[in-house]
Amino acid sequence: MKIIIGNWKTYLDSPKEAKNLFEKYKILSKKKNVALMLAPSHIHLLSLRSSYKGKSLSFVAQSLGFSGAHTGCISARQIKEAKVDMALVGHSEERARGLDDEGVAKKVQEAYKNKILPIIIVGEHKRDSEAEHYKFVRKQIQSALKYYPANKPLKFIIAYEPVWAVGAAKPPSARDIEMMMIYIRKTLVKLFGDRKGRAVPLIYGGSVNSLSAASILSLQEVSGVLLGRASVDAKELEAIISKIK
Ligand code: PGA
Repeated sequence: MKIIIGNWKTYLDSPKEAKNLFEKYKILSKKKNVALMLAPSHIHLLSLRSSYKGKSLSFVAQSLGFSGAHTGCISARQIKEAKVDMALVGHSEERARGLDDEGVAKKVQEAYKNKILPIIIVGEHKRDSEAEHYKFVRKQIQSALKYYPANKPLKFIIAYEPVWAVGAAKPPSARDIEMMMIYIRKTLVKLFGDRKGRAVPLIYGGSVNSLSAASILSLQEVSGVLLGRASVDAKELEAIISKIK
């Protein structure tokens, strides 16, 4: 079983387009070896979620914020009220709009308080010296989890998305992804101990398509993939799901 998350970003304008693609997601979500999750933009999220009575498809908010005087945000409590219990936290496109590490940590804490499972996105901007990008990702993880109660069960997913591979031509090699995933696993084990640290699902995102999916999905530490462009292309999505062994 692999996790496939479709991050629709703001690719789809009309409710009709969203609804049409959603029908395809409903069909694909019934396949046995996939946990299909859909992250539509907020404006489509509520209507799609409320129209859905099934169980096989899960919904993810693209971001999560705080209740109160926060114009333009969607709060964790609103997400929960809409019967959505997962959210992306710290996507590089949100970080590029000014979200810093402390902001990510507070959002993870807010998600925890509201029983929303955060999909915490980390990833380096560039790779020049080998050691630096590992260190960068470790610091992002440590910082994102600094308010997470270490004595409680760990309910989050870590998504590794190197910023340079998001919206790019191709992902890093499967070997490079694997090495980073092993490093992230070690980081989690150091922070939370062997049993808990090993149970956290790790997923990869950034330029995944039907050509690269098979090698990435076959990596031992990879529990799934986070898709951007491929998530709004029904044929690509279907082809990617067909690569799950
Ligand atoms: P991409 O986006 O697949 O289009 O590179 C991935 C993401 O931003 O989650």
